[in-house]
Amino acid sequence: MSSAWGQGYVTDIDYDPGVYREQMPTQLKLACLLSGVHWDVPDEGAHYVELGCGQGIGALVVAASNPSWRVTALDFAPGHIAGARALAREAGIANVTFLEADLATFAESPAAAALPEADIVTAHGVWSWVGEPVKQGIVRLLRSKLRAGGVAHVSYNALPGWQGMLLVQRLVREAGLRLAGRSDRQAAAGLSLVRDLLGAEAGGLLSDKRIAAWLPEAAKLSATYLAHEFMNGHWAPCWQAEVASDLAAAQLDFVGTSTLLENFPELAMTGPQRAVYERFDDPLMRELVKESCNPRTLRHDLYVRGARRMSAAQRDAALRGLWLALLTTPDRVRLEVDVAAGKAEMARAFYEPVVRMMGDGPAQVADLLHAPGAVSERENPAELAGLMVGTRQAMVIARPGAAPDATVLRLNALLARHFGVTAMLNRGQSMASIAAGGGVPMTTAELFVAGRALAGAADERIEGWTEALAGPLEPSDQEKVAAALAEARADTPARLRRLGALPS
Ligand SMILES: C[S@@+](CC[C@H](N)C(=O)[O-])C[C@H]1O[C@@H](n2cnc3c(N)ncnc32)[C@H](O)[C@@H]1O
Repeated sequence: MSSAWGQGYVTDIDYDPGVYREQMPTQLKLACLLSGVHWDVPDEGAHYVELGCGQGIGALVVAASNPSWRVTALDFAPGHIAGARALAREAGIANVTFLEADLATFAESPAAAALPEADIVTAHGVWSWVGEPVKQGIVRLLRSKLRAGGVAHVSYNALPGWQGMLLVQRLVREAGLRLAGRSDRQAAAGLSLVRDLLGAEAGGLLSDKRIAAWLPEAAKLSATYLAHEFMNGHWAPCWQAEVASDLAAAQLDFVGTSTLLENFPELAMTGPQRAVYERFDDPLMRELVKESCNPRTLRHDLYVRGARRMSAAQRDAALRGLWLALLTTPDRVRLEVDVAAGKAEMARAFYEPVVRMMGDGPAQVADLLHAPGAVSERENPAELAGLMVGTRQAMVIARPGAAPDATVLRLNALLARHFGVTAMLNRGQSMASIAAGGGVPMTTAELFVAGRALAGAADERIEGWTEALAGPLEPSDQEKVAAALAEARADTPARLRRLGALPS
């Protein structure tokens, strides 16, 4: 349910905590470079602004990971802001400010006037969930506060990907409002009605096969997530070109997406599909063709205020200068990956030596291209960085070799304590790192193990850990968690030391 101040947005229950790699500065940088656009954000002293920050965990991680940056995060839910400020105080993070503000009017406020220009503005999970006055407020804020050359990341539920699910959302919301009180219970009641209708072979629900496939998955999602996804009064999925047109009023140029593999037409489309795509030069028409071939339900679009295009040589030079680090062990790297166009095989003769070299620690793309033993037909830094990071097996490192400071270690211990828990087992997790310049992604089992390492208790009995993390679960699930903990104990601490999330 929304309150008077919520303008249709769910306000009776707080949103889930989360850190998303698509919002992290180094991922945005790589996306920008892959799209052939200059990255004008300074390495030090940048201003990062998050709109609709929810519980603020992403903003805390970015602030701790970039001690010379200023981070401003705002949300209109007082519960979110109070919780985020409490965590910032507890972790001693001094370079983050959480503002309780309504995006519909914030751009005209004295608090906005006092803010310095932003280098990066990110809004994850806000645009398609709010009404027109809030969207227009976001545009005015971007117009007045994102500096020339600055980067904006805007995620939203997209069309045509959501087309088939529109009926599901309408049913969940309308039935939920009539059947229950609080938003999470409304979403659960609405979903239950959808299940009943599908069981009764309602033609509208049978017409899209994805609905029947999605319903069992929905049962695994948190009640809070479902409430914020389905119960908002103004939720409406958007066409990419319409978002681009709204943001053009803030002089933003569409650049690409921070879901990296989507920036490679050869991975996103088959040959015949690409032939149609290549009939057009207009990037928005190209996106429409891409969406027709591979509809996505959530887009992470990237904009630059005054995008400066690079030559192919400039782009390759910038990509060669990036540092990459593995997020797994070399033996677990998958070289066959699922992409929209089918299965892609990363050339073994080249990538096996590259991955071996990455096993020794962060390395520069320029050096990885000449990893000992790597056989390649052509030097392609975009493919190397895009595939390794886009498949989530590596990340870009901002400050190779930088050690974690006391603030990072305090925050990481807090993250492990708050989120290394049973209720968060199926969620992606993160720890801060100055070397990474953002969150280092990990599983909940890895976060738990890292937390024990930070507490100086890495040698505790694994049975005790399983009891702590999986005690309330079914025996078969307990076994899975025990295996994940054993695997994490074997390699996570060493990897996180190399990545700067734990002290060496
Ligand atoms: C789906 S949540 C996403 C939160 C966060 N970005 C994340 O991904 O975890 C949307 C957020 O936008 C905030 N929000 C909605 N309308 C707003 C408004 N008018 N002004 C400021 N924040 C708003 C909500 O309180 C909520 O935290």
